[in-house]
Amino acid sequence: MILVTGGAGYIGSHTNKALHNAGYDTVVVDNLCKGYETFAKWGNFEDYDFGSKDLREVFEKYDIDGVLHFAAFSSVAESVELPQKYFKNNYKNTLNLLQIMREFGVDKFILSSTAAVYGNPEKVPITEDQELKPINPYGHSKWITEKALEREAQKGDFNYVSLRYFNAAGCDFDCEIGELHDPETHLIPLVLDAAIGKRDSISIFGTDYNTPDGTCIRDYIHVNDLASAHIAAYEYLCEKNESNIFNLGNGQGYSVREIIDMCKKVTGRDFKVDIADRREGDPDILIADASKIEKELGWKPKYDLECIVSSAWKWHQKVNDI
Ligand code: UFG
Repeated sequence: MILVTGGAGYIGSHTNKALHNAGYDTVVVDNLCKGYETFAKWGNFEDYDFGSKDLREVFEKYDIDGVLHFAAFSSVAESVELPQKYFKNNYKNTLNLLQIMREFGVDKFILSSTAAVYGNPEKVPITEDQELKPINPYGHSKWITEKALEREAQKGDFNYVSLRYFNAAGCDFDCEIGELHDPETHLIPLVLDAAIGKRDSISIFGTDYNTPDGTCIRDYIHVNDLASAHIAAYEYLCEKNESNIFNLGNGQGYSVREIIDMCKKVTGRDFKVDIADRREGDPDILIADASKIEKELGWKPKYDLECIVSSAWKWHQKVNDI
């Protein structure tokens, strides 16, 4: 049985569905502070906070072999406003989970880490061995969690894989689940809100970045590609007695303006675009070198930007009932 924390959230639910389709038994643990119970319909569901001591009850009830840990706060902007909230939930509460895993002898762990651990990288595409210099509390909270895992693995009888996601986007092709944050802060769903008429315009946060068109460049990866990478990483942990860290991205960067253009193309709709100030904590460019996971686990992403935006648009139309 695999424990999936945050399995009622965006990336966790897509991975839980993929695990189920691959024949794994799962139990989702989610306190529904961000997730939706309807997103956790595959396998078992338990309403617990992963930072609570009561979480032991889940380990007593199910025979857990490994943990996929998605539950976390993930807004860069909010983390700048509320750093303690991020260190407490993303780092301190993960220590609680690790302690309970140790008590029950559960030795396989996959962390949802992030490209935000690199900060403003010295060179792109970014390889896993680049120096980690997070520039926002969110990135810092994941960096320190990776350090805790490294030390835990050094103690023995415990292995982990840290997956550093670049920009997760897109939705389930069956439209059973999708991206639904409240409030929404991510670029693609906000642009689609403008396309669907839920907002009057989309604002570009800064046009003076060190990029060809002045807007930030990111590497967008389909959520189903993230899901399949988790399965590959879990199989690796089952086969080998070692830990590892991998980037998950497409290896291609798109600027904010290019994303807006792709959304206009896919939706066939036009909308107003405003220029706003920079958002604090945003690095200029984040593009993954994801060759390590391809070489070591044979995983590579399948879906390109157009597919990402098309799947997001289909879901967006469904949830907005249009
Ligand atoms: N942006 C806008 N206007 C908006 C919203 C976003 O211009 O209305 C810009 C942002 O400034 C940024 C880019 O679009 O330059 C992407 O922003 P998102 O909020 O969609 O994503 P982030 O790159 O800030 O962060 C995401 C995840 C993080 C993760 C990071 C890693 O939310 O958890 O990708 O690359 F760390």
